[in-house]
Formats: sequence, C-alpha cells, structure tokens
Amino acid sequence: MTTNKIEIFDTTLRDGEQVPGCKLDTQQKLVIAERLDFLGVDVIEAGFPVSSPGDFNSVSEIAKLVKNASVCALTRAVEKDIEIAAAALKFAKNPRIHTGIGTSDSHIKFKFNSTRDQVIHRAVLAVRYAKTFVHDVEFYAEDAGRTENAFLAEICEAVIKAGATVLNIPDTTGYCLPEEYGAKIKYLKQHVKGIEKVVISCHCHNDLGLATANSIAGVVNGARQIECTVNGIGERAGNTALEEVVMILKQHPYLNLETNINTHLLYDTSMMVREKMGMPVQPNKAIVGANAFAHSSGIHQDGVIKNRETYEIINPEDVGVTESAIVLTARSGRAALAYRAKKIGYELTKIQLDKAYNYFLQLADSKKEIKDNDLHTIMKNVDKFSKI
Ligand code: KIV
Ligand code: ZN
Repeated sequence: MTTNKIEIFDTTLRDGEQVPGCKLDTQQKLVIAERLDFLGVDVIEAGFPVSSPGDFNSVSEIAKLVKNASVCALTRAVEKDIEIAAAALKFAKNPRIHTGIGTSDSHIKFKFNSTRDQVIHRAVLAVRYAKTFVHDVEFYAEDAGRTENAFLAEICEAVIKAGATVLNIPDTTGYCLPEEYGAKIKYLKQHVKGIEKVVISCHCHNDLGLATANSIAGVVNGARQIECTVNGIGERAGNTALEEVVMILKQHPYLNLETNINTHLLYDTSMMVREKMGMPVQPNKAIVGANAFAHSSGIHQDGVIKNRETYEIINPEDVGVTESAIVLTARSGRAALAYRAKKIGYELTKIQLDKAYNYFLQLADSKKEIKDNDLHTIMKNVDKFSKI
C-alpha cells in the first residue's frame, strides 16, 4: 500500500506571530525554528522580511540555522518585497519565496481597485521574478476560499506556467465549509492544466472553528501540504493547529496520509510556543490542552481505569504527555477514588473505600477539585486504614 506524504508547512513565526501582543525577538524565533526543524516540519515560514529590519534579520538568521526544513519568506506580489525576501533567504539550504495576491472579487475591488486580468498579470510577474532568485516558489491566492472557482483555476494555471512549484489555496477568512473547501481543491485538480506538477497547499483560518476540518478536507481531495501553526495561533481566531492535523492523520491510518512529524514532541513544542509567545492555551484545546487527557466524571473514570481505550482515542505518550489524569471532583466515583488513593500509598478494602467515599463526597461538594493533600486528610479521618 503506497502512502501519501503530507508536507507540514509551519507558519507559527509568520501568521502565528501576527497575533496581537505575541511579538518575538530574533533569539526567541531561533529557538522555536530549531525546535520546529527537530519536530520534523517540512517548511518553516520564518517571516515577512520587507515588513521590518527586525523581521529581515530573523528570517536571515533562521535561514542560516535550519538544517532540514525549507525556509520560506512571505512577500506581496511586489518586486521590492521579493528582492528583500531573496536577500533574507540567501543562506538557506532550501529557500522558498511565498508570493501572492488577493483573488476574490472583494479583494480585487476594495484592496486593489483593479480587475481580474490585472491581478493575473501581477501574479505571473511576481512568480517569474521570484523564480529569478530561487527555484522553489509558492503562490498564494489570498481569499481563495471566497474566490470563484473558475477564476481561481485560471490564475492557478497562469502561475504554474510562470514556474510556481506550490499553489497555496488560503481560506483567508475562515468562511468555507469542509465540503466546499474540499470541492474547491478537487475542482482545481480537475480543471487546472499542469496541476500534477505542483503541490497544492491548504492554508485555513479558524473564524468558524473549521480550520482543521477544512485542511483535512483539502488533503483528502488531493492537496499535499498543510499550512498550520503550533497551538493554532494566528490572525483573529487563528490558523489550523499543527498538532491537530498531524494527530488526525496519524489516528486515521486508512486515509493513507502521513506526515514526517515526531508526535512525541508535540506537547513540549506546544509548551515552548505558549511560553515564548506569552499566549496560554485553553484547557479543552485538542491534543495539547491541560484537559485533553484528563477524566473527571465517574463513568468515564471507571472506564479509563479498566481500559484506557474506553474513552481515549490517543495514547497520551504519543504526543509527549506522560499519563492520563484522573481528576477527583464531586462527579467522581469510587473507582477513581481508589485509584488515586493507591497512587499516594493507600490500598483500600471495600469497607474502607465506602467510608472514605462518604468523606470524599462531603469535601468534594465544597471544592472544585480534590487534590492529593485533601486525599491525605480524608484518609486520616477514616478508621482502620492500612498505609502501604
Ligand atoms: O491567510 C492568508 O491568506 C495568508 C496568506 C498571506 C498566505 O496568510
Ligand atoms: Zn493566513
């Protein structure tokens, strides 16, 4: 059975860093870039060099540092941007210029006060110019999610002729439904001449909470690159979360789609990005949230204690989390209490457990969570416990 490799294009340092208040200095970016390279991402989008001297410097230092991944720099379809990006990528082993332009009618009318023909012309010139500096040129059709498919196909065909190696189809505003986004990719595969020569890339935003679902719909329909960020950080509601798409593909092997990511490093990488960006992750965040492997209701706890697979579809160790947590609350049952008591040294008989459970419920009703120190108190108040 042949497997299909999905390239992971990480844009934590570019789209991710566009989050208000998440500015990183060059040193912090270098630490993250090194970690992303070690994690196994295929492309690191290091920044937008024309935007500031600091960003130029970061891209240039990352280009020197990164050993395995391609290093990519963003530009508009503007000559000066492309020249500056090329200069910042000078020392990259595998440089990529990511250039593009808005293609939806709203972008063409309101951003550029232009026409579809002029936008195609600018796109072609930008790709041709980028090709004079690097072989690997990715073209983005900004707001492709709201771009009419026939026009999108036309511009894609034109930039492929101009030498683009990767076609990025961004759902910039996070508007598409998964069926719609998947159909868009399928349409391009069927209608664009030369499409078999390039990699189609999904770049989805999360305004309706659909970024991950849309990216998966994209690869199921033939895209072979996903653009994403660690923890899903990014403009507005963020981008597709790297850890989510990687684990979806891993947990659904029948899709026959693989990435190069060492999943055991996902949790640590998430922690590193939280810390450097000063941006916490909500506890219920898939894969890396504090509660992603925590069980608190009695029925679930009982199941997980008997066999993890009853309520867990991922082995926490696969993403670098040591073990699932059995959290004690007023919703917990006897199985969970016995399990946690045993962990701190109390082996309980049935009668002892019944007594301890009564105390436990009284305390748990007055607290959000029963911690180990509370457990010791409960045990002290129950007769005839044998400490092991
Ligand atoms: O969301 C978007 O369209 C982008 C492009 C600049 C690639 O980030
Ligand atoms: Zn984006």
